[in-house]
Amino acid sequence: MSDQAKRDFPAGFYWGAATASYQVEGGIDDCDWAEAARQGRVPVCGRACDHYNRYEADFDLAVELGHTAHRFSIEWARIEPEEGQFDKETIDHYRKVLQALKDRNIKPFVTIWHFTLPVWFSETGGFERLDSPEIFARYSQYVVRELGDLCDHFSTMNEPNVFASNGWLRGSWPPFKRFALTDLVSITNSGNNFEDKADKGMKNVFMYSRVLKNLAKSHNSAYKAIKDVSPETEVSVVKHVIVFDSNWNPFNKVKAAIANYAWTSIFMNRTYKCCDSIGLNYYFYTKFGDKRVWRKTDMDWNFAPDHIYEALLMLSRYKVPLFVSEAGLADADDSGRAEYITRQIEGVKRAIADGIDVRGHLYWSLMDNYEWALGFGKQFGLIKVHYDDNLRREIRPSAFVYKDLIEQYSKVNTSV
Ligand code: BGC
Repeated sequence: MSDQAKRDFPAGFYWGAATASYQVEGGIDDCDWAEAARQGRVPVCGRACDHYNRYEADFDLAVELGHTAHRFSIEWARIEPEEGQFDKETIDHYRKVLQALKDRNIKPFVTIWHFTLPVWFSETGGFERLDSPEIFARYSQYVVRELGDLCDHFSTMNEPNVFASNGWLRGSWPPFKRFALTDLVSITNSGNNFEDKADKGMKNVFMYSRVLKNLAKSHNSAYKAIKDVSPETEVSVVKHVIVFDSNWNPFNKVKAAIANYAWTSIFMNRTYKCCDSIGLNYYFYTKFGDKRVWRKTDMDWNFAPDHIYEALLMLSRYKVPLFVSEAGLADADDSGRAEYITRQIEGVKRAIADGIDVRGHLYWSLMDNYEWALGFGKQFGLIKVHYDDNLRREIRPSAFVYKDLIEQYSKVNTSV
């Protein structure tokens, strides 16, 4: 029996966690979220976790936890502070970050853009701009040219649908545009205490659809621009998948099919040909017609880690390798995280057993951080950050359960 056949997870499967620049780095002042905080529309992020300065110590903790991969994003506003002008010092910083991961044998997965936009771009329309694909492609190409020797996997963007729906339908994130009818189907918790102040109107729904189109075009243009300078680089998109399911009722079945199509298929159908792989961000399972009362996470989301299986199944139809780029829960007292991670990994294992090509599992998040319009209260971290004690890090017990699972699944299973 081959080594591969004896494993639940393929040899070389990547295990680790993820973060995003604005949520952990600290000191980012010239992006749209910092501007929105100055206007009192979202919580102040400030020094966040000061990961910009403490990344080496944080990566040491990842090593202690058995991680072999780490996903993080780079901050567009730092790299291109003025349109078309790139900042060499910032690039040098991210080169050091990548080197620090390499020194620790941790494989980097870099996300080129994770929600926050440079002010020069957001104030001139951001992804509403018809030339946004070229702007994004130029930035992406620059990044890969400068960092590509230290990293062979880049995701162009994180969760286009979440970005567009919170910004143009819910109105809880910049640029705070709101289409109130969306409340009828709204299921996410994105900081609704800010929605009232948003600019409301019918036209926002058209803008939402334009933004989504521009995002798909931006991904595709960035893919081509990256391949022009670095054909070997693996390029992915990170897609948030909500699993919409239904009970026996045919009406609910149609509802679920439409919701899956609208949330996942439309964007993926426009981009999958420009994806060497796809990252899955999984947080939600919802079943129409289901009367069950769900146990909830601190985000008030259904505690449904096993259904990551269906999310992987949905993306598998695009016939490229997949990796779990984010999945996890907010759980301040760490009472459910170990169980959640264990069941989530069981779901991934089931997908692999069914022949789905999954290459890695990156828990969200390595450490507690700024949960966007909800501020610092929601704690997703394997590592607790003590905001009131000089940002001291403390590994949560569940992180060691994850470590044990990584060790167990990295061994060859001789009982098979
Ligand atoms: C995002 C993260 C966020 C996490 C938890 C994902 O939607 O990529 O930035 O913190 O979910 O809400």
